[in-house]
Amino acid sequence: MRIVITGTPGTGKSVIARKLAALLGLELIDIKKIVRKRRLAGRTHEVDIRKLAAALSFLRRRDGYVAEGHLACELKLPADFVFVLRTDPRVLKRRLAKRGYGARKLNDNIAAELLDYCTQRVEQEYLKRPLELDTSRRTVAASAAALAQAVRQKKKKLDAINYSKQLIQFARGN
Ligand SMILES: Nc1ncnc2c1ncn2[C@@H]1O[C@H](COP(=O)(O)OP(=O)(O)OP(=O)(O)O)[C@@H](O)[C@H]1O
Ligand SMILES: [Mg+2]
Repeated sequence: MRIVITGTPGTGKSVIARKLAALLGLELIDIKKIVRKRRLAGRTHEVDIRKLAAALSFLRRRDGYVAEGHLACELKLPADFVFVLRTDPRVLKRRLAKRGYGARKLNDNIAAELLDYCTQRVEQEYLKRPLELDTSRRTVAASAAALAQAVRQKKKKLDAINYSKQLIQFARGN
């Protein structure tokens, strides 16, 4: 079973993927760790996606993993399931502020979440609709359990996400 988990930073990929991998007995692949180890991030922190694809090509020879990272939406990894974790932008803002993100980085990530950036990128790269899970309404354990259940029951859909009502407020700068 090959599972990819992506989503905006702060949506809970790392904490939830760790639990999911343990629940399903699968190897955990932390894409951010590979980026760091292989020094794939440039001076402005941008990552060369072609180099990342090469660094992740070993996944083609694996048949069981949970691979997680926000960059997983920028390239096609072998996947039986692609999950996009979602978080209410107001909740996400609090989580990212706790990390000490500056205003620019905070706003970029909130905008990405409001605009379904990762979901759209998955649709473009993987040519299929990902299953979206709202982590703002669940504990970490409940989210991992919901993903495990989706895998076991081969679900085609999870949550329906629509944050568009918050767009106007965001554009006004609140
Ligand atoms: N309901 C929740 N679901 C998931 N995470 C939560 C929840 N409530 C609080 N958190 C906290 O939010 C943080 C999510 O961080 P995590 O590192 O898992 O995000 P990430 O998606 O991997 O981000 P990044 O892309 O930057 O690696 C954790 O500190 C986690 O404890
Ligand atoms: Mg992470």
